[in-house]
Amino acid sequence: MQDLDAIVNGALAEFAGIDDADELEQTKARYLGKSGALTEQLKGLGKLPSAERPAMGARINAAKEILEQALSARREHIQNARLEFKLKEESLDVTLPGRGSGCGGLHPVSRTLERVEQIFHSLGFEVADGPEIETDFYNFTALNQPENHPARSMHDTFYLADGKYLLRTHTSPIQVRYMESHQPPIRIIAPGRVYRVDSDATHSPMFHQVEGLWIDEHISFANLKGVVTDFFRRFFERSDLQVRFRPSFFPFTEPSAEIDMSFGEGWLEIGGCGMVHPGVLKNVNIDSEQFQGFAFGMGLDRLTMLRYGVNDLRLFFENDLRFLRQFR
Ligand code: FA5
Ligand code: MG
Repeated sequence: MQDLDAIVNGALAEFAGIDDADELEQTKARYLGKSGALTEQLKGLGKLPSAERPAMGARINAAKEILEQALSARREHIQNARLEFKLKEESLDVTLPGRGSGCGGLHPVSRTLERVEQIFHSLGFEVADGPEIETDFYNFTALNQPENHPARSMHDTFYLADGKYLLRTHTSPIQVRYMESHQPPIRIIAPGRVYRVDSDATHSPMFHQVEGLWIDEHISFANLKGVVTDFFRRFFERSDLQVRFRPSFFPFTEPSAEIDMSFGEGWLEIGGCGMVHPGVLKNVNIDSEQFQGFAFGMGLDRLTMLRYGVNDLRLFFENDLRFLRQFR
């Protein structure tokens, strides 16, 4: 029979060197399992003379107790060590510098929009809004655009599949929507996205316009020229800036003009304008004998091109960060 003390010392030494929970349980079985060393000792009790049995039985039980205690102490140690390791692994160093701390910036067209709103606000204009998905009525009919007008063709306008709705081709439908629910005096601008089947250096299929509308009792073409010229001079911060009003045609204004600005050697068309057509006022139940006024629609992307000297407007919508970062 192996010496009891040797078994206990051997077990304690073994347990103390184990760092793995499973390995500890397997080692425990070698001492306290069905055919473990200590269990074998108990089985051997029967072979002892009866006088020696109680004392030996007590010693074996004491040894068992010692091993059980050592085991649970070791289990706890292994568990604590594991927890500590995990905590260390998951720890955050809050003193490290942050990642991606670069500054973003507004898109150049958004900057233009903010500036436009600011300037018109100082001239007493309020900002109105309207839907990008429009009906044929608001986009064309209510603006005096007859059924056979070329702008209504599929070559120019994005129609939705059901044919009932379209992507607005200009911000002018907001004039109609606003006048339907407000009586003069009216002084608004209405900026937003518009869509056309168009694409070249000065035309994008999605672009931005800002509509302007001023209706009151004594508003004339002279007021239109004054407001638009004043706006341009403030926008470009040049008091000698030349703006050209070139006679033109829009079904919803009479007379009508294109607004051009000098661009390189020549001129660039920035917008259309005119005195609101009496037929449009009639459509929204405003008395055209008592009230009249002007409207304009300008391309915000074109304004941005001129302000920053960009020669291809499609660059604004390609989202190339190397391009956009220059405006930060
Ligand atoms: C109109 O859209 C009229 N609704 C403007 C108007 C409003 C006239 C109120 C009278 C009264 P036009 O189609 O010319 O007009 O467009 C106006 C401006 O939008 C153009 O001068 C140009 O600056 C800009 N624009 C037109 N098409 C594009 C395009 N594809 N990409 C970028 N800008 C464009
Ligand atoms: Mg035009």
